[in-house]
Amino acid sequence: MGLALIVHGGAGDIPLERYAAARAGCQAAAVVGWRVLVAGGSALDAVQAAIMALEDNPSYNAGTGAVLTEDGHAQLDAGLMDGAALDVGAVTGVERVKNPIALARAVLASPHVLLAGPGAELFAQRAGIALCAPEALVTPAQRARWRRGYQAGDDVNVESAPERLVAVTDTHEPPPASRNGALPGAPADLVHLDGDQHGTVGAVAVDAHGHVAAGASTGGIAAKHPGRVGDTPLVGAGFYADDELGGVSSTGHGEDFIRLLLAHRAAASLATGHSAQAAASAAIRLLGERAGGHGGLILLDRAGRVGYARNTPAMAHAFIVEGMGTPFDGV
Ligand code: GLY
Repeated sequence: MGLALIVHGGAGDIPLERYAAARAGCQAAAVVGWRVLVAGGSALDAVQAAIMALEDNPSYNAGTGAVLTEDGHAQLDAGLMDGAALDVGAVTGVERVKNPIALARAVLASPHVLLAGPGAELFAQRAGIALCAPEALVTPAQRARWRRGYQAGDDVNVESAPERLVAVTDTHEPPPASRNGALPGAPADLVHLDGDQHGTVGAVAVDAHGHVAAGASTGGIAAKHPGRVGDTPLVGAGFYADDELGGVSSTGHGEDFIRLLLAHRAAASLATGHSAQAAASAAIRLLGERAGGHGGLILLDRAGRVGYARNTPAMAHAFIVEGMGTPFDGV
């Protein structure tokens, strides 16, 4: 048993010239979460802190800098789970909250599990979480992309594109060197043609008491229908944690993760004797084979062993476990 923390910054197609920035943001967030663990903080605190760091980084599709709906709003989703008590908190469609994961944490501490839209924002006010102007979440880059209409090659096509699937990658190898741009027709969460944008974010941690937590945060899919809800705020799809199993955070085309309840499946497979890495790989293989889905996930088993896999060209991530001086990061 040992401390462990892993984060992701979205699965997709990261242009080569953006690898360094994608990795750096994940590494910085991993350090933030790790400091919480080393100081004796809980896995839940570490997950929240790491995700807040990613939400505040405008390069990622979460919090400030998230993609916009078809009518031009940032509608944010987030959720997290405490594997000790199996408490869950999640929010969806919030437009006036700078750190949706902090609001999800407040929901977790309440009798509720999932709050939506204006009701979630009312809850934020009652919980003492300040609301911001909706436009404060919208970066100039995202507004410009929306004005362009998220056209050809941008984050617009949410259809599955099985021909884009790459083999499940579960090693620490970098993605193929030939990948240097987005492919037309790819799911929106996965494509970052502008080269200034990464994806959905998430984190999983194991603390000194052996407690596991997992969470995720996103702006969803660019040009999404207002009110569309993806996997990120849905327990079992976008995230899952159970002290008796481990924790998982997903990234990818959310509808497919919802259909398969993939985060829960990956965690549950740890009970069948799968290693952390085998559980991650099997889940992503299932995503492609059963649903034609695209994405990736990060996973820690209850002992803090690391697993991660993707069937996209890249997935920004970083992890640190006891004995490592600095996080390992990669795409
Ligand atoms: N995975 C994020 C979403 O589909 O909304």
